Amino acid sequence: MATIVESAYVRQAGTVQQDMSWVVAVRGCTRFDIRVRHKEINATHFGDQTDVPGDTRITGGDECSYTPAQYILPLKTENLPLGCSTLPRFAARQIRVDDHDPRRGVYGKVPIPEGGNMYFKPREEAREKEFDRELSILNDIKKKCLAKGEIKLPDLQGIVVSGDVEETCIGMLMNVIPTSSFGIDLTRPECWAQGELHKKWEQQVIATVEVLHTHDIIWGDVNAGNIVIDEALNAWVIDFGGRNNPEFVDDDKAETIEGDWQGVERLFYVWLPNRRADIPW
Ligand SMILES: Nc1ncnc2c1ncn2[C@@H]1O[C@H](COP(=O)(O)OP(=O)(O)OP(=O)(O)O)[C@@H](O)[C@H]1O
Ligand SMILES: [Mg+2]
Repeated sequence: MATIVESAYVRQAGTVQQDMSWVVAVRGCTRFDIRVRHKEINATHFGDQTDVPGDTRITGGDECSYTPAQYILPLKTENLPLGCSTLPRFAARQIRVDDHDPRRGVYGKVPIPEGGNMYFKPREEAREKEFDRELSILNDIKKKCLAKGEIKLPDLQGIVVSGDVEETCIGMLMNVIPTSSFGIDLTRPECWAQGELHKKWEQQVIATVEVLHTHDIIWGDVNAGNIVIDEALNAWVIDFGGRNNPEFVDDDKAETIEGDWQGVERLFYVWLPNRRADIPW
């Protein structure tokens, strides 16, 4: 079996056959699918030398490890959701996700060439409908200036584009929510323990959902992970990918106004109080 000799790479799969070898390797968030036809390298510099400094070397091995890989599914920018084609563009080559959690994929805070940071969300394969829904809704929220005062919603900054000949969109950028020191979202026990703030968060979320509904926007995926608590202890409604988490919103109410209210009610009247009771005081 083939292996790539460089510790930054993790081999996912590979095999050596009579006339061809292939290996799938992952480095950070990038997946490499390398196929080598033996007759094409036999007479080359690469085939002659077994250890070229700074080069990739293929040697024998027999172990294979597994690392989850996420695949980005680019969308031709000519096919962007309605109204999104005028969004500011950021070149993918200038964006580098440094602090991402490899189990979650290439999400996270990225430094921007113009200075400061933004939050990157990729257009992932199998989640492309969710991405397109969210892009379209965040664009709507921005155009209608819905995020003000107590209404905390992500501020879409633009799309990340790739390709010189045919431009594609590989992700979006929004503002980074400056998260509280005790926990990012309502899935965190540190947030459950802040019982005196639960009423305020509930009221902020209700006010936000009311504004959204007034503008014909449905939140959709109401759940504890989609309420972020910022450093000023305000609750933000995030994640407009839609669908539903049946613990909060019944399947037959997915992506409806009724479903949003069902989710909010279950979250603040059942889910959160139950967890709060578990906290040792
Ligand atoms: N703008 C942001 N600033 C800071 N943190 C963020 C931001 N957006 C999302 N996050 C963090 O990332 C987590 C996941 O974000 P989000 O729900 O938008 O992604 P997702 O792909 O839909 O994930 P999931 O499938 O878990 O719902 C949030 O719970 C929050 O902790
Ligand atoms: Mg989410």
